[in-house]
Amino acid sequence: MIGLFDRLARPLLYVLAPEDAHNLAIRSLKFVPLPPAARDDRRLAVRAFGLNFPNPIGMAAGFDKNAEVPDALLRLGFGFVEVGTITPKPQPGNPRPRLFRLNDDQGVINRLGFNSQGADPALRRLAARAQSGGIVGINIGANKDSPDRLADYAGLIARFAAVASYVTVNISSPNTPGLRNLQQAAVLDDLLARVIEARDQVTPSAGPTPLLLKIAPDLSLPDLDDVVSIARQRRVDGMIVGNTTVTRPKSLKDAGTAREAGGLSGRPLRPLADRMLAETYVRVEGVFPLVGAGGIDSGAAALGKMRAGATLVQVYSGLVFRGLGLVAEIKTALLGALERDGQTALSEYVGADAAAVTAEPWPE
Ligand SMILES: Cc1cc2nc3c(=O)[nH]c(=O)nc-3n(C[C@H](O)[C@H](O)[C@H](O)COP(=O)(O)O)c2cc1C
Repeated sequence: MIGLFDRLARPLLYVLAPEDAHNLAIRSLKFVPLPPAARDDRRLAVRAFGLNFPNPIGMAAGFDKNAEVPDALLRLGFGFVEVGTITPKPQPGNPRPRLFRLNDDQGVINRLGFNSQGADPALRRLAARAQSGGIVGINIGANKDSPDRLADYAGLIARFAAVASYVTVNISSPNTPGLRNLQQAAVLDDLLARVIEARDQVTPSAGPTPLLLKIAPDLSLPDLDDVVSIARQRRVDGMIVGNTTVTRPKSLKDAGTAREAGGLSGRPLRPLADRMLAETYVRVEGVFPLVGAGGIDSGAAALGKMRAGATLVQVYSGLVFRGLGLVAEIKTALLGALERDGQTALSEYVGADAAAVTAEPWPE
């Protein structure tokens, strides 16, 4: 079924402008009936943040921004789905064009700028599916014109805690001016205090809601020291490393498109994303688990991400170039690795190469 969908849809998706292709993909997932996913091999199961993941491969934030198709995505074999980024109020995002494919590099640049239907429709949709099972997290952000960004995050976590498996505080999108300043130590400490207080207030009625922090791969290492130390002090449940990069690696072939403003993702992001993940892993010292995102486009890349420090992984851009078959390919590769190495659980791999990765020359 997935193979058929890929064969029919991908050539069409390729000739469309990237954003039209994306909208068509969401519409198709809304209306094409999909059978439930086959049960995953038990060796792929992962426990993290108090949740039981059937497999460690997640759909990254930004694909299903308005929580329209989380169950279709679960049926495609993802172990979890992160919807959002949701902002409190609806906002259009930046003018089009704002999404670009770098075909020769298998990369994507986006400057969408949190186009969002706002909290109400997403809340309605998630409430309607709340009893359906499956791990669906929500990624939250602030409105561009918000007079009080911290209040935006605190308000959203209070509203969504009851209908989301976890909440991700996204302070790393490069496309909302000033948003990434929330990663600065004093502000971050304030922000985390506010969102954790808001979360704790609703816990008696909403139940436990793990809180994850999603960071940029562009932080300096001293800034990363601060971010990890505050995240540990404030007892977040995990971190996602990370978002898109505003840097442009020297290796990029599509120099014209590379000049577009926005965040770069996909294969050219992987060396930097893996490095920042490993740097984070050695600082976190096992206190909470990490989700690795950035440039996963094969089973080997997913295993590399785990070895650099990820307990769970997320993919987005790789799906644009490799199709939905990528999810099954990663599962097969992970099971193959377990068999080859005589291991019984993926936890054996997590962070195995972190120290080695941090000793390499900085990726350019
Ligand atoms: C088109 C597009 C939109 C995205 N939107 C969001 C978003 O709304 N919130 C967010 O936290 N990350 C967003 N991301 C970042 C991804 O979640 C992910 O962190 C990043 O793309 C690296 O993974 P990848 O290389 O597999 O794409 C977006 C990425 C892309 C390509």
